Amino acid sequence: MVETIQWTADGVVMIDQTKLPREIVYVTCKTYEEVADAIVTMVIRGAPAIGVAAAMGVAIGVLKADPANLDAEFERICTMLARTRPTAVNLFWAIDRMKALYATLRGRQVEEIRAALVREAEEIKVEDIAINRAMGSHGAPLIPDGRTVLTHCNAGALATAGFGTALGVIRAAIDSGKKIDVFADETRPFLQGARLTAWELQQDGIPTTLITDNMAGYFMRQGRIGCVVVGADRIAANGDVANKVGTYSVAVLAKENGVPFYVAAPVSTLDLTLDTGDRIPIEQRNSREVTEVFGVPVAPEGIAVQNPAFDVTPSRYVTAIITERGVARAPYEESLARLAKG
Ligand code: MRU
Repeated sequence: MVETIQWTADGVVMIDQTKLPREIVYVTCKTYEEVADAIVTMVIRGAPAIGVAAAMGVAIGVLKADPANLDAEFERICTMLARTRPTAVNLFWAIDRMKALYATLRGRQVEEIRAALVREAEEIKVEDIAINRAMGSHGAPLIPDGRTVLTHCNAGALATAGFGTALGVIRAAIDSGKKIDVFADETRPFLQGARLTAWELQQDGIPTTLITDNMAGYFMRQGRIGCVVVGADRIAANGDVANKVGTYSVAVLAKENGVPFYVAAPVSTLDLTLDTGDRIPIEQRNSREVTEVFGVPVAPEGIAVQNPAFDVTPSRYVTAIITERGVARAPYEESLARLAKG
């Protein structure tokens, strides 16, 4: 399986997701500023993956920081990484975890602090893969055998440290002997479905059909889709789910057509400080992602554009939320609070 992100002696190595599937290129970030830039420009993307990247960014920042000024530099590093993308809570969760560790290391030798932060970042990566496998084993029984699973965006190995959340559930279902195939929404405007999910599943030999986003309703109405599985960027206490823009439309279509709609996400994606999804900050991205395709204009110059990167699916459309600790169902206030406690 593809290595999304790695800690190496040279720096943080990431597969460049802006170039896939045409080119398989790895970039090495040698500073925390380069890690922050890689997150902003979507060299690395997907909620758990940007959490791992932020943790490694903190670690590499501290490795290069002036020991005489460590506290101030640590704050600066964390602030810059936290400003990269606003919606996926995993980013803030990972930075907070690095901050909590740093607080326990006060007064220690700088080399000891550095080594502990590097270990923690690597640990977050290793844990993420184990979490995805656990999510897979909880989710696999929900996937109907012999049917087609629809997914939106990329919630696979590329969006995590490995195995994936939504695609992890699909992989686990196949590993358990189920005969399933996947319909991947292309996911305009950034094309994570066409470029990343289609590529990743094809690499694994999982039968995959690419459709444009506006075809999902057509196939659901024909009875072709057995269930939907997507990832999440942030889940509020009431079970409202922020995920790639277009997820809400898929969820409404799924309910209309009696198709189960599952969300697979680690507990670190829960934000129980928010009572509903209305309070989740939604990233607005550059209008050129809408007006251009690979740098070629497809719209008249000067046209007004909106480009929200995520939308919020109200929990009434969500059949279940699959986490590494088990499966949550409505009422989500209770089931998610229980899972968050561990
Ligand atoms: O803008 P992106 O590509 O970072 O958006 C990614 C998604 O919306 C994913 O579905 C989500 O982060 C879950 S990834 C396991």
